[in-house]
Amino acid sequence: MEITIRNFEEKDISSITEIINHNILHSTSLYDYNIRTEKQQLDLLKEKTEKGFPVIVAEVNNMVVGFGYYGGFRSREAYQYTVEHSVYVNKDYTNKGIGNLLLPELIKRAKKQNLHTMIGVIDSENVGSIKFHEKHGFKVVATIPETGFKFNRWLNSVFVQLILDTENK
Ligand SMILES: CC(C)(COP(=O)(O)OP(=O)(O)OC[C@H]1O[C@@H](n2cnc3c(N)ncnc32)[C@H](O)[C@@H]1OP(=O)(O)O)[C@@H](O)C(=O)NCCC(=O)NCCS
Repeated sequence: MEITIRNFEEKDISSITEIINHNILHSTSLYDYNIRTEKQQLDLLKEKTEKGFPVIVAEVNNMVVGFGYYGGFRSREAYQYTVEHSVYVNKDYTNKGIGNLLLPELIKRAKKQNLHTMIGVIDSENVGSIKFHEKHGFKVVATIPETGFKFNRWLNSVFVQLILDTENK
């Protein structure tokens, strides 16, 4: 299976919105209750690209089957070298090595942008994603209990962090 990683283009938005909405409806990987329109999803991604952050997609047979991005972690100036990232893969294409291409590409871009650290916020039930991040060098640095409420239960947010090996700061 040939997987291509490239920058996001607006024509990718329906595949991306489909992936996001599946996860909103069927998982705790997103803390949204309601599915998003393509316009809402596009605006969220544009918010990243307009600030110079990357949004990347994985393509198989000309179909977008996964995507990833990062953006500012918090807004105050001192956070400027910290980003929060996300990676999502279409449910029919998970465990085929697509995440293994998307996440290192985001790490590479973050290093190139001279950033200092990447943070992922993962629901504690999403053990697969925590393992996936650990495989790529992230460490679990905090768990904040009962920060989400979805599917009639409290959810815990697990923060995973990678300190980037750059000369910056
Ligand atoms: C998490 C996710 C991005 C991983 O992408 P993927 O394409 O399925 O992952 P890959 O096939 O590249 O595998 C990545 C590695 O993580 C490991 N991994 C993935 N799921 C795992 C699980 N449930 N338990 C243990 N390890 C797991 C794989 O074993 C693999 O390691 P390997 O290369 O040594 O075999 C993807 O499964 C996904 O989108 N899940 C749903 C949405 C989500 O949870 N996104 C993350 C939000 S924080």
